[in-house]
Order: sequence, then C-alpha cells, then structure tokens
Amino acid sequence: MDFAGKDCLITGGLGFIGSNLAHRLVALGASVHIVDSLIPGHGGNYHNLVGIEHKVTVTEADMRDQAMRSLVRHRDVIFNLAGQVSHLDSMSDPETDLQINCRSQMILMELVRHENPGAIVVYTSTRQIYGKPLDLPVSENHPIRPVDVNGVNNVAGEMYHLLYHDVYGIKTVSLRLTNTYGPRMLLTKGSTQGFITTFVRAALEGGEITLYGDGEQRRDMNEVSDVVEALLRAASTPECFGLAFNLGHFEVVTLRQVAETLQTICPRLTLRYIPWPEEKKRIDIGDYYADFSRFSSTTQWLPRVDLTTGLERMVEFYRVNRQHYWGAL
Ligand SMILES: NC(=O)c1ccc[n+]([C@@H]2O[C@H](COP(=O)([O-])OP(=O)(O)OC[C@H]3O[C@@H](n4cnc5c(N)ncnc54)[C@H](O)[C@@H]3O)[C@@H](O)[C@H]2O)c1
Repeated sequence: MDFAGKDCLITGGLGFIGSNLAHRLVALGASVHIVDSLIPGHGGNYHNLVGIEHKVTVTEADMRDQAMRSLVRHRDVIFNLAGQVSHLDSMSDPETDLQINCRSQMILMELVRHENPGAIVVYTSTRQIYGKPLDLPVSENHPIRPVDVNGVNNVAGEMYHLLYHDVYGIKTVSLRLTNTYGPRMLLTKGSTQGFITTFVRAALEGGEITLYGDGEQRRDMNEVSDVVEALLRAASTPECFGLAFNLGHFEVVTLRQVAETLQTICPRLTLRYIPWPEEKKRIDIGDYYADFSRFSSTTQWLPRVDLTTGLERMVEFYRVNRQHYWGAL
C-alpha cells in the first residue's frame, strides 16, 4: 500500500512501538491520528513524538471512552497497539488487564463494525500466548497455553479481531510479536517492558545486569524498525486478512549473549548470576523463538537489524535522550 495520503489511527500511539510507527507513517506522507490513555508506568510519553508533534493529532482517551466512536470513522487503517504489557501486573491486578486487553478490544471491533466496516485493522498480539513452548521454533500451529492473565486476555483480544473478520468480513490481521526493543522504550526502574529495558539502563549507568540461573534462556528479538515494517506490510497484504502471524528473527540469542553484547558497547557494565526468584520462575516460559516463515512468505518481510546493530542504535538514542525515559520508579 502507498501510505501517502492514507488516514491512519494508532491506538497506544504515544507508546514505544506505536510512536515509532507514527514516525514512519508521517515520513511516508500518511495522515496520523493517535489515541492513548497514558496509563501510568507504561510506555506512553509525549517525548516519543519529538520531530513529528505538529504533524500528528493526539487524543488522550481510553479505548473504552465514547471519544473512540468518532476516532474510528473515516480511517483507512487502524493500528491497534494499545495494551497493558506487564505480565507481573496482570497477575497482581487481573481485573485491569481484563478491561484493557480484552474488553477494550471487543469494544473497538464493535465500533469498527458499526462506524467503519471497510477499515483495515492491524492488531499487535504477543508470543506470550503460546506459554511454555513444547517444541522450537514455535509456529502459529503451536497450542495456545498462556502462563499468565496477560496472555489469556491477549488471546481473547486477538480472537475478537479474527472473529470480526470471519463473521463480518472486516479486514483484520494479528501479529504475534516477540521481544521488541529499540529507541523510545520507557527505561524506568521496574519497567514493564521486559528484560531489555533493565539491561540497557544498567549498561548506560555502568551498573550491573543480574541474570537468573545460567542466563542461557534463548530468545529471538526484533528491533522496532523491523516490527514497524511488518505492521505496514500486514496492512498492505490482503492475503493476511483474517489470520495471525508470528514475527521473529533468524538470530537466536541467550540472555547472557544479549548482556555480553551490551558489555562490548558499554564496557563498564558488569554481570552477576543469581538463582531464579520464585515469582519470576512461576511465569517464565523457558526458551522461545518463532517460526516466522508464514509471514515472510506472505509478505516478503524479513528482519533486517541484527542484535549488535540494534543495541548500538538503542544505546546511542538513550545517550542523547535519557532524561526523558529514566523516570523515578
Ligand atoms: N514491546 C514488546 O516487546 C511487545 C511484545 C509483544 C507484544 N507487544 C504488544 O505491542 C503493543 C504495544 O506495546 P509497547 O511495547 O509499545 O507498549 P507501550 O506500553 O509502550 O505502549 C502501549 C500504549 O498503550 C496505551 N494504552 C494502554 N491501554 C490503553 C487504553 N485502554 N486506551 C488507550 N491507550 C491505552 C498506553 O498508555 C501506552 O502508551 C501492546 O499491545 C503489546 O502487548 C509488545
């Protein structure tokens, strides 16, 4: 699709991935609207829009607000990225996770059905829905068995999108993201956005990374520009509609390798190994890496950014912008 002149709505567009998508869409000449409720402790941050702040419109609203009705009208594409992304928070406050990750998604699809049934809707799901992998790499046919409340609600969120395609013909597609990293992630202490934020913050502070067990858990990781490209291709490829796809990377790395790569970029960083804390062990999924061949063959998407390049970019971004992302948590 040529995005020039296209009318795009990004839910969660002040957050990490949504704001990177907004920058790219503006560069492509799209008309970009953002809705975000700025939920505390998550990635929403006005600094993410620096450089495009006069080229996008922003509505501070919750996906469940009435304001959404007019926001979904007349859009060519809705990138639906709003979500509560913390697995631990979903266990301590399952009701809020249900509201945001499940109920909001159903409300959005109902609005699209009534107000704008011709829109394309791209939803960001998560690898977390598979739970502990039974075999690797994990394909889309792997059983769905989440290990936390967040995963359960993400399954429901994704299913609403696919159901509204099957029943009402709405052009929906779901991408199951793996660990995504890069510029514009919130790096507050205790960040909800996973291990990479803690690692990068420690690296920039010349601090210490604590690895659980032997640090040999394997992951595939996507730099955010690759994820943005995948979102654009998903919207542009009619063969994707009604389906869910994995994203992933050829480069499978251990958490120890991620930490060691950061050590080469930031040599003052040190590493320490400790036994698994019980509350983390309970919801850890072990090794994970995806088979993303279905998305690649449907859209010709491939991850382009390797881990070293991605981490170098990320460190460089925070060397300049850290005061906007550190927070006090
Ligand atoms: N970052 C990753 O590694 C990763 C991995 C898998 C899936 N995902 C999914 O990608 C999406 C974007 O993730 P992110 O890393 O950019 O997170 P983020 O926290 O940076 O952004 C999410 C944004 O959504 C907003 N939001 C949350 N609930 C909302 C609501 N009810 N109404 C309006 N706005 C709301 C938040 O304020 C935040 O700005 C999420 O749905 C997440 O589940 C991310």
